Amino acid sequence: MSAAATPLTLPDYRQQAPAVAERFAALKRRPVVLEVKDLGKTFDAHEGTVTALQGLSFSVHRREFMCVIGQSGCGKSTLIRILSGLEHPTSGELLLDGRPVHGPGLDRGMVFQSYTLFPWLTVKENVLFGPRMAGRKGSAVESEARQWIEMVGLSDFENAYPYQLSGGMKQRVAIARALANQPRILLMDEPFGALDAQTRAQMQEYLLQIWKNIDITILFITHDLDEAVFLADRILVLKARPGRIDEIIEVPVPRPRHLDQAVQPEFLATKHRISELIHPRDQRHGELLSIPRLTAVGDTIE
Ligand SMILES: Nc1ncnc2c1ncn2[C@@H]1O[C@H](COP(=O)(O)OP(=O)(O)OP(=O)(O)O)[C@@H](O)[C@H]1O
Ligand SMILES: [Mg+2]
Repeated sequence: MSAAATPLTLPDYRQQAPAVAERFAALKRRPVVLEVKDLGKTFDAHEGTVTALQGLSFSVHRREFMCVIGQSGCGKSTLIRILSGLEHPTSGELLLDGRPVHGPGLDRGMVFQSYTLFPWLTVKENVLFGPRMAGRKGSAVESEARQWIEMVGLSDFENAYPYQLSGGMKQRVAIARALANQPRILLMDEPFGALDAQTRAQMQEYLLQIWKNIDITILFITHDLDEAVFLADRILVLKARPGRIDEIIEVPVPRPRHLDQAVQPEFLATKHRISELIHPRDQRHGELLSIPRLTAVGDTIE
C-alpha cells in the first residue's frame, strides 16, 4: 500500500500541524476554572458496592469546550451530578476557580437531556426564575432575561408556555435559563439526546455561536462521536467499571467549525480514535442470538 493511501492517525496531525499544538498550548495557558482531583464515587446497591468513578483527575480551562464520552454506565452522569453538587463524591476534591465545591451553587449552570422547564411558567418567567430566587428584582433583571432569550433566538416566544414549544426550542430556553444565573461553567448532560438529527445539528451550531460570544466554559456529555468532535476542544474518554479516564483527546479540527468538516480527514481520524477506545475491536460485534430458522431452505438474504 502506498503511503498516500494510509489513513493518518490522530498523532500524525499533531506532528504535521504546529498550529494545532500551539492552539492547545494557548488553551492550557488559560486559567483553570474547574479542577477535579482524584475523584471517586461508590454506590451501595442491591448487588453490592458499585464503583461508579475511580481516580478521576483533570482540569478544564477558562472558555474551554470539553466533551465527555464513554459507554453507557461509565459514570458520565455521576460525574456531572457530583460537579453540580447534587451528589457527594466518596473521595477526591473539586475546585471551581480554586475554591472547593461542597454543594449546589449558581456558579454552575445545568442543562439535562430531559426537559426540565417549569411547565406553569412562560419562557420569560422560566429564564427569570434563577435571578429572582437569587433576590434580584426590577427592570434591569427583566431586560437581561430578554437578552438571554434573544440570544437563543426565541424573542417571539417569551410569553409562550413550554407545551407550546418544540423539543429544540425547550432546550434553547433551558440554555438561556442556565446562563441567566451567569455561571462560571455550563454542565450539560446529553442535552440534545432526545432531539431528531436535524434539530440536533442545528442546536450544536447554536451552542457554538453562544459559546463563542460569552465568557463561559462548557463541560458537555454525549454518546455521539460526531457531536463530541464537532463541539469540543478536548474530549475526555471514560472507561467503564469502574469509570476512569481512558484518554484525553485534543481535537485537531480547526475553528470556526462547520458541518462540512465532518468528512475531513482530521475529523474522521479523531472519531476513529474515540471509536477504538470505546468500542474495542474484540467487543465490536453484538452477541449472536439463538433464533430458530423459519425461512425456506435457500431463501437467503445475505
Ligand atoms: N444512585 C445510584 N445507586 C446505585 N448505583 C448507581 C446510582 N447511580 C449510578 N449508579 C451506577 O453507577 C454507574 C454509572 O452510572 P451513570 O448513570 O453515571 O452512567 P452514565 O455513563 O451516565 O450512563 P448512560 O450513558 O447510560 O447515561 C452505573 O453502573 C450505575 O448503575
Ligand atoms: Mg447518563
